[in-house]
Amino acid sequence: MPLKPLRKAVLPVAGLGTRFLPATKAMAKEMLPVVDKPLIQYAVEEARAAGIEQFCFITGRGKVALVEHFDIAFELERTLEARNKQAELALLKGTSVEPGSLVTVRQQVPLGLGHAIWCARSFVGDDPFAILLPDDLLLCERPCMAQLADAYRETGGNVVAIEEVPRERVNRYGVLDVAEDMGRLVSVKGLVEKPPIEAAPSNLTIIGRYVLMPEVMGHLSRLEKGAGGEIQLTDAMARLIGAQPFHGVRYEGRRFDCGDKAGWIEAQIAFALRRPDLAPAVRAFLPRYV
Ligand code: UTP
Repeated sequence: MPLKPLRKAVLPVAGLGTRFLPATKAMAKEMLPVVDKPLIQYAVEEARAAGIEQFCFITGRGKVALVEHFDIAFELERTLEARNKQAELALLKGTSVEPGSLVTVRQQVPLGLGHAIWCARSFVGDDPFAILLPDDLLLCERPCMAQLADAYRETGGNVVAIEEVPRERVNRYGVLDVAEDMGRLVSVKGLVEKPPIEAAPSNLTIIGRYVLMPEVMGHLSRLEKGAGGEIQLTDAMARLIGAQPFHGVRYEGRRFDCGDKAGWIEAQIAFALRRPDLAPAVRAFLPRYV
């Protein structure tokens, strides 16, 4: 049977963002800007660059701005037109989506990432789907999700973006038990979420980019609690191994953990330094602080 094309993405945005309080008291973490664009927009643009056409945001209370951001801002656009602000109007173009291509599903209680993904089961149906966690911001020549989509077409199964971390930090991530390390691709024989350092099967960890087969929903529907008392996506993915191909992909690029204050600040600098309009000013002031 020919491989189904990858057209759908789920973006979970229902977390509490406690590491960013008080900023995230009334505002979604995913609306935090890096330079001048909110994290959610980077994620949507990255997905689009991989051929994704349908988006499902898993939202919660206080997250309406995330959806508003991709709507038409009628008054603002008319005012900009009247003032002939073409450059500003062009900036808004990146926030428009095809009519009917963005749906939201409410996760009433944030019971964990696995539960958030399970909330998208009707949207996913029988199709392969991407997951992007917008607080992981990627700086890559070829967008990270496009790299994963390539690997999906190559392997015909589940793929997750991975990176190596120092041993002492493996207990914060989902960790791969490696069957065969082929360089860019790593075949997987097990996955474990937030293992104790001494029990971790490797130092290859999963970042917030996935392409999964719809069968993961069946495993998620057990709603079993895992590490930290949360319903973990990693546990459901682990149950796919053996029944379907499952690979890690050493993506090319850099990740910034923008759910963490230091990671977010680093992202501001890295992204600003790539902007011709900002780089000279940032380069000029940075030495004053270091
Ligand atoms: P995090 O682990 O970063 O959790 O979630 P968080 O609640 O957003 O942030 P902190 O740790 O309290 O600061 C990773 C991703 O999964 C989503 C989050 O919105 C984020 O995109 N998520 C997490 C949900 O949508 N629902 C959940 O129940 C948990």
